Amino acid sequence: MKDGIPLEIDVVEASASKIGSVDFDNLIFGNIFTDHMMVCDYVNGEWQAPSIQPYGPIQLEPSAKVFHYGQAIFEGMKAFKDDEDQVWLFRPEANFERFNRSSKRLAIPEFPKDMFFEGLETLLNLDREWIKKGFGNSLYIRPFVIATEPGVSASPSKTYKFMIICSPAKAYYSGEVRVVFAEKFSRAADGGVGYAKAAGNYGAQFYPTNLAKEEGFQQIVWTDANTHEYLEEAGTMNIFFRVGNKLITAPTSDRILDGVTRKSVITLAEEFNIPVEVRRVKVQEIVEAAEKGELKEIFGAGTAATINPVKGFGHAGKKFELPEQEDSYASFFKSKLMAIQYNKTEDKFGWRY
Ligand code: COI
Repeated sequence: MKDGIPLEIDVVEASASKIGSVDFDNLIFGNIFTDHMMVCDYVNGEWQAPSIQPYGPIQLEPSAKVFHYGQAIFEGMKAFKDDEDQVWLFRPEANFERFNRSSKRLAIPEFPKDMFFEGLETLLNLDREWIKKGFGNSLYIRPFVIATEPGVSASPSKTYKFMIICSPAKAYYSGEVRVVFAEKFSRAADGGVGYAKAAGNYGAQFYPTNLAKEEGFQQIVWTDANTHEYLEEAGTMNIFFRVGNKLITAPTSDRILDGVTRKSVITLAEEFNIPVEVRRVKVQEIVEAAEKGELKEIFGAGTAATINPVKGFGHAGKKFELPEQEDSYASFFKSKLMAIQYNKTEDKFGWRY
């Protein structure tokens, strides 16, 4: 809406759909994209009229600033379909607000809310066949912005491209997840960009994560850059520890992403009287809890990962396995969240959209 009038969104439909060639039972996360994408350019100091176009390559100059300075941010959201074929988003306003917080930190102009939501709705209506019913099926939505101005001077771009692409998704991790607590490398520092979904936050994790994989760990749980004594977040998800019946997670900060799934888990824990402590988590305390048999669970929480149980962890050359839990908190939160996401239960917190 602009001044109460719905936005003009130019729609160019794909000449043929690719959907018939997709094996929806065997999806690898983020490998297949739907027929359409949303595009919006920032030029002359303004976001221009958005359009929906067939999904496909874009042209950029090799000197575009995104390639040289990584001026790029993104979000991750999901759409779910209920038994009546209605499509639901989960707390998309929280993602939108974080999108603009990330943009601001990377000196990217903020994106207008009406364009974001009207464009997204138009896109999802066109590609709604790609959203399959059934628990575990979803459409992963990836809004992002890149700096497009040609030129290698190290200064903010004057032009940008905003896009939304969508990918049908099942689980993010196909197997068991074990994590290692970081001892040397860091993801984020005070005053840095850890809280933003800056593209470079993820690219910079690839090398240490490859080293961790060689040791049998799928993810790193990042520790604070100053002392490596406190656990912060994992590469693709926030992280929760269950010691006895208590749930512990680190507070958000300059360095830690304000995860939508993370804050939903905290709200659900409070709702269901599960003791939850949001405070700094010492590596030593978790290692000692594991040694005493008091560490019951570790799980990650994120949009792509949903709630992902962690089977074991490593620290300082030692490896720990976690026991199966009959009353698993990870399973509890996953089922509560999914019931809301797939419209199977009352939406007490107003999270469905
Ligand atoms: C998400 O959960 O949406 C994320 O952004 C993590 C991503 C790196 C897969």
